Amino acid sequence: MKPSVRTPLPGPKAKELLARGERVLSPSYVRPYPFVPARGEGVFLEDVDGNVFLDFMAGIAVNTTGYAHPKVLEAVRAQAERFAHVCFSDFTHEPTLSLAERLVEKVGRGYRVFFGNSGAEAIEAAIKLVRYHTGRPYLLAFTGAFHGRSLGALSLTASKSAYRKGFGPLLPGVVHVPFPDPFRPPLGARPEAVGEVVLNHLEHLFRTALPPEEVAALFLEPIQGEGGYVLPPEGFLPRLKALLERHGILLVADEVQTGAGRTGRFLALEHEGLEADVYVLAKGLASGYPLSALLFREELGSWRPGAHGTTFGGQAVAAAAAHATLDLLEGGLMENAKEVGAFLLAELKGMQRRFPFLGEVRGRGLMIGLDFGSPEEARPDLRDKAQRLAFEKGLLVLAAGPSALRLAPPLILSREEAAMGLEVLEAVFRSL
Ligand SMILES: Cc1ncc(COP(=O)(O)O)c(C=O)c1O
Repeated sequence: MKPSVRTPLPGPKAKELLARGERVLSPSYVRPYPFVPARGEGVFLEDVDGNVFLDFMAGIAVNTTGYAHPKVLEAVRAQAERFAHVCFSDFTHEPTLSLAERLVEKVGRGYRVFFGNSGAEAIEAAIKLVRYHTGRPYLLAFTGAFHGRSLGALSLTASKSAYRKGFGPLLPGVVHVPFPDPFRPPLGARPEAVGEVVLNHLEHLFRTALPPEEVAALFLEPIQGEGGYVLPPEGFLPRLKALLERHGILLVADEVQTGAGRTGRFLALEHEGLEADVYVLAKGLASGYPLSALLFREELGSWRPGAHGTTFGGQAVAAAAAHATLDLLEGGLMENAKEVGAFLLAELKGMQRRFPFLGEVRGRGLMIGLDFGSPEEARPDLRDKAQRLAFEKGLLVLAAGPSALRLAPPLILSREEAAMGLEVLEAVFRSL
């Protein structure tokens, strides 16, 4: 398959569906461009007018195995024929139990699992767990972070103040610390010193305003997702972890976007040789079926039956999809994400030399950000134009953060398909 756009966008059928949506859908839905999917196959999506797009967004970093993967379909169908739902919060059943065992095996022995349906829901569970277990009221999070939009998760989210506007007061006890972004360093830091400056800032907070012994946990995205695919400087995370340990503060790794193989390892923290006390997984875990998992160290499991629960979390069909996804990840997709991701990153860095408005190209595995503008001047205008032009040329990409475009294709992307995407991006950049 190849990208092929045959109608003006949106095409006539897409236009009609979008107009119907205008009449009944909540105005809070964002529509970055007028794409109306009809069917998918592999890394391609066809819209309702027969236009074919190469998908570098994967339903916001979700569709690990692309569209309609036969192994996922087979697992889903087989489980749906047995039962879809019996409520795992009340009754143990095999597909979800064995998924828990499998996740523990992957993350590390001595963890326990609670299943939810979405990232935000698992973050809520994490907030409750760390407060319950430690008896400490405060939570730390980073500016630029995105942890979801339910009220607890939103209290941690700080990637855009627009997400929070009008919903306050949010959860009390959340304190934000600037994220050490080396491209646009906070706190007046030089890029090479940004990690040090942020750690000093945190220590300063502990000395002056926030008693560390009252802090339950710090929530961390190992690579910020919605904030713009921002990597912390090398060596920052181990030092942060050591600082937290000194104060008995738990580390919650929000691997909703980075996890399930996207960076080339099952968890992004594995690249750092670090372990978190709590992990949150969602998005890519079940190839598009709603499933999230909270994994926490056994010692933190002091909460009792009924302290937390959910009707749908750990639904059996989603668990079956997760099993098939894990089979595929273990069968080569993580390795593929690493290799094709490295190829894309190298080629994009080459492009950066030819297109100076690309201020930074960064990423790991198939989680790549292109930042438009310079440290001094973000160019969201160019980024937005690039997103639209890519769409018109048959490539689906999504904005993230103040001025970045993110590439988060399905992990089945081949080198040839990656090269197709690069060709479109080259054409987009030439016409910017
Ligand atoms: C890192 C991270 N955490 C949490 C969430 C929230 O997940 P959900 O949209 O499934 O509630 C997201 C969603 O983008 C995310 O990227």
